[in-house]
Amino acid sequence: MINFVKNQLNVKAKKEINYNIIISEDIFNSQNEVILSGGKKKESRRFIIIDDFIYKLHYEKIETYFEKKLIKTKIISLPGGEANKTVANYLELFKELNDYPIDRRREPIIGIGGGVITDIVGLMASTFRGSTPHIKIPTTLMGYIDAAVQIKTGVNFGDSLNRMVCYEPPYTVILDKSFLRTLPNRHLINGIAGVLKLAVIKDSWLFEYLERYGEEGIESKFQNQPGQGILNRTIVGMVDELQANLYETVLERPLDFGHTFSPVLEVDSCGDLLHGEAVALDIAFSIVLANQLELLSDSAVDRILRLMDKLNLPYYHFILKPERLWESLLDQMRHRDGFQRVPLPTMIGGCIFINNITYENIVEACRGLEQIYRANGGGNADQRELGS
Ligand SMILES: NC(=O)c1ccc[n+]([C@@H]2O[C@H](COP(=O)([O-])OP(=O)(O)OC[C@H]3O[C@@H](n4cnc5c(N)ncnc54)[C@H](O)[C@@H]3O)[C@@H](O)[C@H]2O)c1
Repeated sequence: MINFVKNQLNVKAKKEINYNIIISEDIFNSQNEVILSGGKKKESRRFIIIDDFIYKLHYEKIETYFEKKLIKTKIISLPGGEANKTVANYLELFKELNDYPIDRRREPIIGIGGGVITDIVGLMASTFRGSTPHIKIPTTLMGYIDAAVQIKTGVNFGDSLNRMVCYEPPYTVILDKSFLRTLPNRHLINGIAGVLKLAVIKDSWLFEYLERYGEEGIESKFQNQPGQGILNRTIVGMVDELQANLYETVLERPLDFGHTFSPVLEVDSCGDLLHGEAVALDIAFSIVLANQLELLSDSAVDRILRLMDKLNLPYYHFILKPERLWESLLDQMRHRDGFQRVPLPTMIGGCIFINNITYENIVEACRGLEQIYRANGGGNADQRELGS
């Protein structure tokens, strides 16, 4: 029996997190009912937010699917892109949801799109009447291997990326890789940055697999066997890391690799860099930094940069400026309880956390990366051409 002790009552509970990540195909085929999991299957309603590119491409199939199942829908399409992950869009969608009163226990909200859509949908699900089940269906590589499988969701606030954030487990994540068939090359490469991050920091097997099959995976838009292998291995690795620290209470997170310096790059590029491209630049910078701190060998740096080049990932950009990278580090320290806690690789597939990076180290690493870039034919170009 709980009771006040010295005028104080302690409330304590544990919440179990339990959701499925399901690989499926042809999800709008009437035989396939995976999208109806977790809800009433007949004579019910679904509130669906969908990336407008996907909507234009598939709306007939989607509408027919739900009609056949006698499920009413309110479908709202929203353009993807970082500029649309706003509080204003979130509020507008929230109003639409409020005007279409789904049964919050038996009619999950469905989000179909890239990370922008699934992040907004997660935040809506978390805030609509406290918590409403939601299903995430990623249609970009970034969404497939990263954004949709996480419980972290949110929108940007002013100039700050992902500032209005919450942690809301989905009911289900449905992975249908056929959506990737229409994804432009630049967005495939954007997503592969997340795969590389995991490979460098945690999984040497995945790194070698990428060396062997990465290009083929991208070329086939991940529709072939090696492509599926890359996707599956990455998601398993991601979930393995996430599961132990879903609410990011442990501040030393290997998955922060590529995320210490990239936030300022995303901002400073004024929208020119996609999230994964900024992460790729951070990875390149961080491995050179690790090398200068005598953590990572020359040969490992060379191997990682060669793989980045092979996969067409950018590894240098003129906006890499020591003073801004330092500011980014200081800003991250505010979220890491005053410590740097920067994950840096000590080998391909392993990392440690560093707390004593100096401004001079950053200046040196910037110079080192630029030298590598110039030596490899960077010439006078200010930046490697993105999206090539
Ligand atoms: N929640 C998390 O933990 C987490 C993790 C990683 C990234 N993110 C977030 O994800 C976002 C980036 O995700 P993204 O790269 O998917 O961006 P996005 O959602 O903006 O999609 C990128 C572009 O691809 C288009 N698109 C979507 N699916 C398509 C398809 N199948 N074919 C052709 N075009 C398609 C979209 O319309 C958009 O123009 C960022 O906001 C980032 O913060 C969140």
